[in-house]
Amino acid sequence: MKNRSLLSINDFSLDEQLKILTLAAEFEKNPTQKILEGFVVATLFFEPSTRTKLSFENAASRLGAKVIGFSSLATSSVTKGESLKDTILTVSNYADIIVIRHPNDGSARFAAEISPIPVINAGDGANQHPTQTLLDMYSILKTQGRLDNLNITFVGDLKYGRTVHSLTIALTQFNTTFHLVSPVELKLPSYVKRHIKEKQLSYFQYTDLLDGIPQADIIYMTRIQRERFSDPIEYEKVKNAYNLNNSMLINTKENMRILHPLPRVNEIALDVDNNPKAYYFQQALNGVFVRQALLAAILGVK
Ligand code: CP
Repeated sequence: MKNRSLLSINDFSLDEQLKILTLAAEFEKNPTQKILEGFVVATLFFEPSTRTKLSFENAASRLGAKVIGFSSLATSSVTKGESLKDTILTVSNYADIIVIRHPNDGSARFAAEISPIPVINAGDGANQHPTQTLLDMYSILKTQGRLDNLNITFVGDLKYGRTVHSLTIALTQFNTTFHLVSPVELKLPSYVKRHIKEKQLSYFQYTDLLDGIPQADIIYMTRIQRERFSDPIEYEKVKNAYNLNNSMLINTKENMRILHPLPRVNEIALDVDNNPKAYYFQQALNGVFVRQALLAAILGVK
């Protein structure tokens, strides 16, 4: 993985993905080790972020790397009209690796094509979010003890949800049965379903959340994303489509855990937070260890 970019989950082989999970477990046991002293990590966030940006920065600083970057368009020279190409070529003079989040699909791949240093996609539009996928896989492995033969229920914005797209593609490597709960307008795109079909796996589509709950080993909730809708009326129609609450969880499997990439709006009721099956805040912590593993592997120290 040394010096390679991570733009979509398929950029790493299954063996490489599993190596990242093994390394993450090592970092979880021993998170502060100065193995990246002398390295500089650039975090270029053209779109808002709490978890991805801060967990990358936390991961880098725990490993001794310096962090530079910006967290909005307003604090970069893009507001003066600078192109993404010029931004990437400039920043690559100052850093050893670039972590980029951008609202346009394909922007991370474009950045990697012109960058002389590796690029990590921290979310490009509605396309992919591969580092979230690796931390989701790590969270599933930790809570279920395996990645194979699981029933995974995805809920919410499956059309624009980049975390859902990347994780679905990753889980086709593990004989997963997919349960897809969404409003009709927000179904999983055909290109993602094609990955499921190519592996001859099963998927079931529902609009009622209750239909996706009893069989689930993992319920993966997602937010209906206001920012992805060009028509606000369309957003208003679906924004309150789902609200998972404790009463819906009574007859769920003992091993079932609730994941959510976060941020949450109203799709998980606050009463669920104290349910032992809620795992989304631990999931966010797992992001630090997985991102430590990624930085160490790509910068060639592990
Ligand atoms: N999961 C995730 O990408 O969260 P942020 O938008 O806060 O980075």
